[in-house]
Amino acid sequence: MIILSIKKILTSDEVINMRTAGNVLSEEHVHILKVVGALQREHDKVERGAAIDEPFFYKAIDFIRSYADHFHHAKEEGILFRELNNKPTFPHGPVKVMLHEHEIGREYTRNMEAALKANDRKALLASAAGYAGLLAQHIHKENTILFPMSDQALEGKIQESMLKEFTEVEKKFTGIAGYLTMAKEFETRR
Ligand SMILES: [Fe+2]
Ligand SMILES: [Fe+2]
Repeated sequence: MIILSIKKILTSDEVINMRTAGNVLSEEHVHILKVVGALQREHDKVERGAAIDEPFFYKAIDFIRSYADHFHHAKEEGILFRELNNKPTFPHGPVKVMLHEHEIGREYTRNMEAALKANDRKALLASAAGYAGLLAQHIHKENTILFPMSDQALEGKIQESMLKEFTEVEKKFTGIAGYLTMAKEFETRR
């Protein structure tokens, strides 16, 4: 009985030992979370009365717009979510929620930039905390719910073709190395 059930798992899951779109996107989350952590710490400093470190915030906004949104969210929306939406049996709710949260993140980012330009501490604090809180829980949901669901729902062939499309996106996106260095620097920034 036990042998039979193990055999079933090994043969039914084509994705075993294979990288999935969810694996790649989860690895990108590690870099995004480094910047989210730095943003939260900087927010806390400003809240305690520190001067606004404008270059830090502009750098964070650039990372958020370029790496987190233009690169990472574009892969999710244009490739993974597309495949999930093509699957008639996959529930539409989780993808809808993720798309909505991407939109809210863009709005927080616009507000953060506007607050910096207006030197509006209150609005800067609200948008920075809003973005950091949103992204932390958004990433947690993707890592623990959506990606495991997508690993189950999308078979090996689709995973392979998504990974190929990811590679194409990666080739076109210049500056990955620079953004990863920035994330690393932000991780240790206190
Ligand atoms: Fe996302
Ligand atoms: Fe994500």
